[in-house]
Amino acid sequence: MSTVVQEPLVYIDGEFYAKSAAKISVFDHGFLYGDGVFEGIRVYDGVVFKLREHVERLYRSAKAIRLDIPMTVEDMIDSVVKTVRVNGSRDAYIRLVVTRGVGDLGLDPRKCSTPSVIIIVERLEPILGAKARESGVKLIISSTRRDPVYATSHEIKSLNYLNSILAKLEAIAAGADDAIMLDSRGFVSEATAANIFAVWDGTLFTPPVAAGILPGITRAVVMEIARKIGIPVQERDITPTELLTSSEVFLTGTGAEIVPVAMISGVKIGKTVPGPITKKIIDEFDRIKSDPANGVKAL
Ligand SMILES: Cc1ncc(COP(=O)(O)O)c(C=O)c1O
Repeated sequence: MSTVVQEPLVYIDGEFYAKSAAKISVFDHGFLYGDGVFEGIRVYDGVVFKLREHVERLYRSAKAIRLDIPMTVEDMIDSVVKTVRVNGSRDAYIRLVVTRGVGDLGLDPRKCSTPSVIIIVERLEPILGAKARESGVKLIISSTRRDPVYATSHEIKSLNYLNSILAKLEAIAAGADDAIMLDSRGFVSEATAANIFAVWDGTLFTPPVAAGILPGITRAVVMEIARKIGIPVQERDITPTELLTSSEVFLTGTGAEIVPVAMISGVKIGKTVPGPITKKIIDEFDRIKSDPANGVKAL
């Protein structure tokens, strides 16, 4: 007897399509120019974690690129919840994409009449590996600098990730898991798709948004957790030397979750992986992530 494998259903502009039939035009400027914005969101035990915060960030990214999303924040939240429900996904990753829409081959966005809204729901292991939270990851410091805040700033979660991809390729070539990117001044900014934290003297440090980083939702949750459990937090510029000599370093992101860093450019970080403060934060994050108070219950 053969079993029928149900394909995930993808939302495109109000309709659901089986994954293999979910397609957009090659004339969409999201494809031609990376002209669009997106969010990555997780569902934990049927609760869409920090859904409103993600959708509000999506609208801020869209505003920064002068893209008018053709639905309200409330309708967007409802559409995400509906897509999780039709897929019956209790534990999953959601990719929410808004493209500039179909235009001509020139880059003028005025030629694109309607933005497209796409919602994909799939299972996704933590992007740096399922074991990373126990064994930690190896990083390099990339020679590719974070795009500056006066250009394609990563404060905007846009479809243009080439800056990060160049750093990721460098990490792969060096046999590392991921790369830390410095900002244009030479201070630490973030990893390719995650924010970064360092610990010294019992205080948690993380670079400010002015280092050209994405203001991560997980980053904000981690800062809130730290303050709640009595760990002081400071947002300030971090030098590469400070990072290498920290007692603990960890990454945060929706795709990566919370990942201890074991080594940076050949320098071992801390005595144990995860370090004691990282471990406390991971434990508290695990405790709150499926609390309906921290998201929207879909299932
Ligand atoms: C460049 C970059 N920085 C940081 C993050 C972490 O942000 P969040 O915690 O909102 O997922 C991401 C996305 O996951 C990212 O792409």
